[in-house]
Amino acid sequence: MKKICVHSKSGYFHPKWIEFLQKYGAEVLATDLQEPGSQEKIKACDGVMWHLSMNPSVLQSAGPILNPVEFALGKKVFPNFKTRWHFEDKFAQKYLFDALEVKTPATYCFWNIDSAMKWVEEAAQFPLVHKNGRGAGSVNVSMANNKQQAIKKIKQAFSNHGVWHQTGYCSVTNRTISKRIRNEIANFAIRLHDSSMHILTGRMPHLPRRYWLPEKDCVLFQEFMPKNEFDTRITVIGDRAFGFRRWNRPDDFRASGGGKLDHSTDQINLEYVRMAFEISRNGGFQSMAYDFLKDADGNPVVCEMSFGYQNKAVYDCSGHWDKDLNWHQGQMWPEEAHVFDFLHENGI
Ligand SMILES: Nc1ncnc2c1ncn2[C@@H]1O[C@H](COP(=O)(O)OP(=O)(O)O)[C@@H](O)[C@H]1O
Ligand SMILES: [Mg+2]
Repeated sequence: MKKICVHSKSGYFHPKWIEFLQKYGAEVLATDLQEPGSQEKIKACDGVMWHLSMNPSVLQSAGPILNPVEFALGKKVFPNFKTRWHFEDKFAQKYLFDALEVKTPATYCFWNIDSAMKWVEEAAQFPLVHKNGRGAGSVNVSMANNKQQAIKKIKQAFSNHGVWHQTGYCSVTNRTISKRIRNEIANFAIRLHDSSMHILTGRMPHLPRRYWLPEKDCVLFQEFMPKNEFDTRITVIGDRAFGFRRWNRPDDFRASGGGKLDHSTDQINLEYVRMAFEISRNGGFQSMAYDFLKDADGNPVVCEMSFGYQNKAVYDCSGHWDKDLNWHQGQMWPEEAHVFDFLHENGI
């Protein structure tokens, strides 16, 4: 019997991974891979699965922990390096898309302010979409309608303060008003305390609790794709592609995170499905979700891809396509597809 080590401290794929691993006859070692001794546990297993999240505390440990498992111990990892190295990094994706010759909106990355400013002054065409490297649900995606707005983004990105994904020590995006007020008050008290301590002792202020890592000295703009009322999310897991559409928020160009999904299979452009399979095959991705838009001529372009996605939205698809674009009726949890492929196709 194969034994699989599953990180069960964070993420939301692991409960169903465990269920399906057991269903398909594997033994599961559920553990916290960030705890000391995890490498010893992994050595006793045939493979490792970890649902990486956007949290910087998770991302900073994933490479040091998983890379030796994959490259020194030679064990199978989900997500493997090819699937995970560009996760939560739209800069990395830009260069990878170029390398794989993926059709995308023209994407412009700058690593120094002079070349960014030169481009804005001399070559940029507006409107543009500005994106931070990290972020999901459209939170770090916005429009730069003109030169002034683009320059503001550039100056922010190359400032001494950097760009923060969460302002304040405690998040104030919580839904209940009472919690937001409590967090605002707590943030104010912490700011007061932090500034006094900084003046008196030089101690740096608190970092935000969850998204504590800023972005700095990099900026990314993307050509705006007009007249897209929705994006089409194609999720490829091995030989399966799941598709649904996501409508934009009202009076907004952004779909991701809006929550208005349409699972009508007949509305999915099969060219998107074909392209998604091709990118996954060329990139060597075990599992990947692609956001498709149309360019001004109606041609498909990928505006983003991600290893992390909502499992329920994929499960709500009534079936999936195989790589020959044959339709297979029947719902499937993505976690079942991950596990099935991990156990069978990787030969472990
Ligand atoms: N270049 C673009 N042109 C037009 N709309 C875009 C473009 N890029 C992204 N969008 C819209 O913004 C949404 C969020 O962008 P995306 O890059 O997918 O970021 P996130 O990581 O937040 O999902 C997409 O779902 C799409 O609707
Ligand atoms: Mg997206």
